[in-house]
Amino acid sequence: MAMKINKYPKSRAMFERAAKVIPSGVYGHLGPAEGNFIPVDAFPLFGEKAKGSYFWDLDGNKFIDYMCAYGPNVLGYGDEDVDAAALEQIKLENCTTSPSPKMVELAELLVDTVACADWAFFAKNGGDVTTLSIMTARAATHRKKIIFVNGFYHGVAPWCQKIDYPGVLPEDVENNLYVDWNDFAALEKLVAENEGEVAAFIAMPYLHGNYFDNQLPADGYWQKVRKLCTEKGIVLIVDDVRCGFRLDLAGSDHFYGFEADLICFCKAIANGWNVSALCGKEYLKSAVSGLSYTGSYWLSAVPFAAGIACINKMKKLDTPKLFREKALTLTNGLRAAAANNGFDLVVSGEPALFYMRIANEDTLMLHQEWIAECVKRGIFFTSHHNHFMNASLSDDDIKHTIDVAEDAFKAVKKNHPEI
Ligand SMILES: Cc1ncc(COP(=O)(O)O)c(C=O)c1O
Repeated sequence: MAMKINKYPKSRAMFERAAKVIPSGVYGHLGPAEGNFIPVDAFPLFGEKAKGSYFWDLDGNKFIDYMCAYGPNVLGYGDEDVDAAALEQIKLENCTTSPSPKMVELAELLVDTVACADWAFFAKNGGDVTTLSIMTARAATHRKKIIFVNGFYHGVAPWCQKIDYPGVLPEDVENNLYVDWNDFAALEKLVAENEGEVAAFIAMPYLHGNYFDNQLPADGYWQKVRKLCTEKGIVLIVDDVRCGFRLDLAGSDHFYGFEADLICFCKAIANGWNVSALCGKEYLKSAVSGLSYTGSYWLSAVPFAAGIACINKMKKLDTPKLFREKALTLTNGLRAAAANNGFDLVVSGEPALFYMRIANEDTLMLHQEWIAECVKRGIFFTSHHNHFMNASLSDDDIKHTIDVAEDAFKAVKKNHPEI
């Protein structure tokens, strides 16, 4: 059984250095101010190297990583085929004055692979392309309003932040309308109340927020949304930044049996090489062409070469099927380990992006305690976020994870004999 880690002295020292010169030390989703790393003392804050499904922190501790860099690690860290393609391209060129044909090849591959895609527009981060999707919808429809699903996350641009967040103006979000997930009647009502004014409905393929069980689409929900959007001239945007290529290589809309007008991809395109893509229907191509939208590194060739290799390898391995099978073995094992020790582990969302919650009590404290015991034994889960599968995760890794999880449940139980 794994040795228990007590502290992370080198990680902590590096964090102190970081905090002096970097706002909040490590900001955003990778930082300790993020609620995913509660309790903070259980988590390493800096890593030194990564390979396959593992990373090693600054103190030399090895972890099986179920966060996968929050999604980009889809084949395994340092995948040899993807990195070979990237290194081959580095020898030729990367960020240059004229784009490489690799850009066209990747666009062709996406159009061939993604069911609703007639074209692809590249950028760097997920937020670049969710923003582009909104601008495209507004340009195409000459309408202002956007419907969001409560619990959404589409990035950090002002249009998708909340009205009371620092730095956000009421004007940034005044055209935003909100509806609950899976509530089609409410969506219909909202559209009727704003007849002729709604440019787009934007949603993740299913609700995978933090702090609550993830919710799959109700039967027929997406088909009804599709029909309504078509009837009312509303652009249907699927934000597939997180799920993209993990449920279905043809897009998560294809997985759920409908077609989006615009679909946003990022994390899994190139196994960690930085590229994102907005794909869409032919009728929106001229609207995108008319926008003023670009970035210094958006047309760099190396991530395009990596993306081509990554998508081809995902096809060869049929990663969505692989993820589902591996994830079901893992989560069934985790739930059984919980039950053996008197815990009710609820697993929600699609298996490839499983979300966990111990349901014995409502405060999530027990859950955080169990996550901490797992992390201290070398299994990198986080407390309040969905997890990710990657193709290099072996059956032995899964077995070891379940064994460690059981040990962690026993440790929590010792502190809570009432369970
Ligand atoms: C569903 C979804 N949309 C958009 C984004 C924003 O992507 P990025 O952080 O690459 O800008 C994320 C990032 O986690 C996401 O999960």
